[in-house]
Amino acid sequence: MTTIEQKAYAKLNLTLDVLGKRPDGYHDIQSVMQLISLCDDVSLDVGTGEDWKLTCDQAGIPTDGTNLAWKAAGLFYQNMGKDPQGITIRLTKRIPAQAGLGGGSADAAAVLLALNRHEGSPFSQVELLKLAEKLGSDVPFLLAGGTKMAEGRGEVLSALPTMPQCFYLVVKPDFSVSTPALYQAIDQAPEVYHPQTNAMVQALQKGDLLEVAGYLGNSFEPLVAAEHGEILAIRTVMEDCGALGSAMTGSGSAVFGIFDAFDMAAMASMQLMERNQTFLARNIEEGEV
Ligand code: C5P
Repeated sequence: MTTIEQKAYAKLNLTLDVLGKRPDGYHDIQSVMQLISLCDDVSLDVGTGEDWKLTCDQAGIPTDGTNLAWKAAGLFYQNMGKDPQGITIRLTKRIPAQAGLGGGSADAAAVLLALNRHEGSPFSQVELLKLAEKLGSDVPFLLAGGTKMAEGRGEVLSALPTMPQCFYLVVKPDFSVSTPALYQAIDQAPEVYHPQTNAMVQALQKGDLLEVAGYLGNSFEPLVAAEHGEILAIRTVMEDCGALGSAMTGSGSAVFGIFDAFDMAAMASMQLMERNQTFLARNIEEGEV
């Protein structure tokens, strides 16, 4: 039996534009995505000689074959055509669930990366991304990391200039949002907000953090903020503490602020931690995954 460890990093959507519904029921999106240092720990015992097992330090996370990390291991060995002779997956969760941070998808991406390394790279990066795509729309980005443009349903990735160095404060309020329900709600909305993706890309090309922070935006945010005053309240505290910009990530409910000074991010965290979960984070670049 071999034990392997892998960090599973969270993502932020610096921009998220929902372009429209597709015939297959998914939505076309355009999103500037960033991997951040907020992470789960994934540990795998391969070749246990026992039944497959998954354990998690947090209640409410499925510990059977419905967990995306378990599915990732199944898909990996099915495509490799090998029986690993028993696997135990241990998840240590820090990324909050139903937050728009890609928590479950990050664990699945980490399993693919760890198993590919363990088995001596039977799959190329392109093949691994194809497996990732079968597991969920965000899994390919979480596997690739860095700063990327995600299009299609999220699986079509292209390179972007690296996000300038900064500090993120990620705040998860005490309510959650269902992603499918929110995609349905946006189809009924009389108007959809579209962030300025091209301007964001230009800001990244200039490497100008202040400008990047000025172009954060998310098509889902007005829908969630209309129902939950916490979104604007959290953003106001962050900006009063000196955030250069702030926005909701993914389908929420987590909100993030971008800071150029750690002490300002820490001050905002202190003010928000009584009523919310708060996390300080930095960029994770492509080679760091
Ligand atoms: O791909 P994933 O399984 O993560 O998506 C979860 C749900 O979110 C989908 O079943 C779909 O309802 C919605 N979704 C969508 N368009 C996307 C991504 C997700 O409609 N681009």
